[in-house]
Amino acid sequence: MHRRDFLRLCGGAVAGAAAGPLLADGAPFVARTHARLVDGEGRPLRAEALAVDETYLFHYPFRSTPCFLLRLGRPVRAPVTLRTADGRAYRWPGGVGPGGAVVAFSAICTHLMTHPTRQGSFIAFHRRPTEVAGRPYVITCCAHGSVFDPHEGARVLTGPATQPLTAVVLEHDPASDTLTAVGTAGADLYREFLRTFRRELRAAFGRREYRAPAAGETRVWRLADYARVFRC
Ligand code: FES
Repeated sequence: MHRRDFLRLCGGAVAGAAAGPLLADGAPFVARTHARLVDGEGRPLRAEALAVDETYLFHYPFRSTPCFLLRLGRPVRAPVTLRTADGRAYRWPGGVGPGGAVVAFSAICTHLMTHPTRQGSFIAFHRRPTEVAGRPYVITCCAHGSVFDPHEGARVLTGPATQPLTAVVLEHDPASDTLTAVGTAGADLYREFLRTFRRELRAAFGRREYRAPAAGETRVWRLADYARVFRC
């Protein structure tokens, strides 16, 4: 299989991705449309219902841009100051919900934009050590071996990625135990992602829908139910 075909299969770009930073200097996050996280029946997802260290997937801030949702079983180290590849600092505030353990990050690798598709996912959170990562409880991208730590804002542990996964800012309503995505912080690859994968995204999500904001509600899947997850 040619490298181009392999990268297309695993949802990766064939050319380098230039980040299009939208962060204002010093801004902690970019406010976006609000999307409440719901289950397969359209019911608001309760944070307590999330299995610890299970990988969930939802789409935000666009209907075709995938994100990981995790309820971490190990302590979150936050707040932490991180940097985009072009040197802009931003603050990751940590998790929300029970014990501040619920976190979310873009599932688009900041190296060459490998991401989960219905055909499979070469990027995922693994509870057991992968050969590439050599440690458990990290997000590993098998395309070229980048490793990210979700306990510290998805900072890069191992390259070639040079910037953390984009953080999704969640709000948690303690009264209802529900979660709402309200913005993002960090690298902004969305414009490049939507342009690079336009053909595939149109086929998967609809000709116009693929670039529509995820507004109102967004469905949460268990990643293993959405795609075959590959280890490396
Ligand atoms: S796309 Fe290269 S490490 Fe993820």
